[in-house]
Amino acid sequence: RLLIIDFGSQVTQLIARRLRELNVYCEIHPYQNVTDGFLADFAPRAVILSGGPDSVTREGSPRAPETLWDMGVPVLGICYGQQTMMTQLGGKVVSGEGTAEFGRAYVTPKGKLSLLEGWFATDREQVWMSHGDHVSEIAPGFEVYGTSPNAPFAVTADVARNFYAVQFHPEVHHTPNGLKLYENFVRIAGFSGDWTMGAYREQAIAAIKEQVGDAHVICALSGGVDSSVAAALLHEAIGDQLTCVFVDHGLLRLNEAEEVVGMFRDHMNLKVIHADESELFLGELEGVSDPETKRKIIGRLFIDVFQKYANGIEGAEYLAQGTLYPDVIESVSFSGGPSVTIKSHHNVGGLPEKMGLKLVEPLRELFKDEVRALGVELGLPKSFIGRHPFPGPGLAIRCPGEITREKLEILRKADAVYIDQIRRHGLYDDIWQAFVAILPVRTVGVMGDGRTYDYACALRAVTSVDGMTADYYPFTHEFLGETATRIINEVQGINRVTYDITSKPPGTIEWE
Ligand code: XMP
Repeated sequence: RLLIIDFGSQVTQLIARRLRELNVYCEIHPYQNVTDGFLADFAPRAVILSGGPDSVTREGSPRAPETLWDMGVPVLGICYGQQTMMTQLGGKVVSGEGTAEFGRAYVTPKGKLSLLEGWFATDREQVWMSHGDHVSEIAPGFEVYGTSPNAPFAVTADVARNFYAVQFHPEVHHTPNGLKLYENFVRIAGFSGDWTMGAYREQAIAAIKEQVGDAHVICALSGGVDSSVAAALLHEAIGDQLTCVFVDHGLLRLNEAEEVVGMFRDHMNLKVIHADESELFLGELEGVSDPETKRKIIGRLFIDVFQKYANGIEGAEYLAQGTLYPDVIESVSFSGGPSVTIKSHHNVGGLPEKMGLKLVEPLRELFKDEVRALGVELGLPKSFIGRHPFPGPGLAIRCPGEITREKLEILRKADAVYIDQIRRHGLYDDIWQAFVAILPVRTVGVMGDGRTYDYACALRAVTSVDGMTADYYPFTHEFLGETATRIINEVQGINRVTYDITSKPPGTIEWE
């Protein structure tokens, strides 16, 4: 196995992700924990030193354990990792004017190095730099194999000892061929690349068992991919020590509650409480049309309801959450930040402290596509894993203006027809998210020989990679025409269909 010593870079998890892509098993451990004893027990086949925010020129800044250099294993130092490596092995690092380099840079090769094999497609390669300090003198035994305008020692190595050091970040997207570097490194270290998501599952199960022991865990199951995969994984690890609560706020899509509860309870044998609280939610939402007020009411009730059910579960000590790695990064980088609240997102963030529960977050290291792969591995149906995201406040934010049972009923039917159309035309997987919003206006129409005065609706479909930005989906006019006809014919209460062609920004994906 490979050990990543984490010096606190924002992108350390990306290194792990690249290694998983190469089917190599690795673990990340913070530098404070990596003592000589730890290193001897772990017995890594190779070690990567991550980047980090500190400066090696500062007294008391983090270092790799000294025994690392005598273990005879390949070591790759990245950014801060490179600098501490140089300092510890007898080189020099300076900080101050003219040493910084942030953003795109180009590395030019010098001589041949196994780490760079197949890397240079042209005479230079784009990389991503992010450093304030730089190496001014390399350690004895090292040679230079790549330079950039501000980093004369962009790539250095002591080939005899298999020590490699790069100033840039090969793990990030903006170093387009960075994966090649990791591929070469793990090949040099002799990894066979046979580690899979199946193996990850075993490892995650063992980790959950160790964390949780005999304690009971509760989980808010939403039916979304993240909470579903987390629940399935926990169930495999601790079986009946897990109880899921599915809060039904009456704002779900057609047949959604039955499908989710049916699948987890009957098909997968999980303990699931179906908390049907639609009366409560719809009652409190009566007459409310302001979007933020709706969101706040739903958020507050959700927590109350979840707490009520959870209190009835004997001995619950842990709350499971399907937090993913991008959520971890986002909350670290942005909590308390200067950004404006566009929408109050629905989450259960404050719950664990309030209820005195400890957290178990088995997906914390994974990215969305890896969570999907793990879900398939755990036997969740592919159709379920590939479902479009559905927001916590549900149909409430797709029903601008006052929410009524009548409007929800119409919305559910129209949405089902629309999604059916998308599936029939084989477009579902090309679209990030698609839904209908029912508009708070009635318009006049003519059907048969009669006048109608019914609701108008808007179809929404967007492409996106992360939900942060989005573009509207370019349906054909035939598709749009056919869908409008079907909705008007099949859904009583709608006599006009429009297509929303706003991108994000300036629009948002949801209507509220
Ligand atoms: P917007 O509308 O902000 O949505 O462009 C971006 C993505 O987030 C989803 N969304 C939510 N998800 N709780 C959630 O779990 C929420 O309160 C919430 N609001 C929006 C939205 O469906 C889209 O995928």
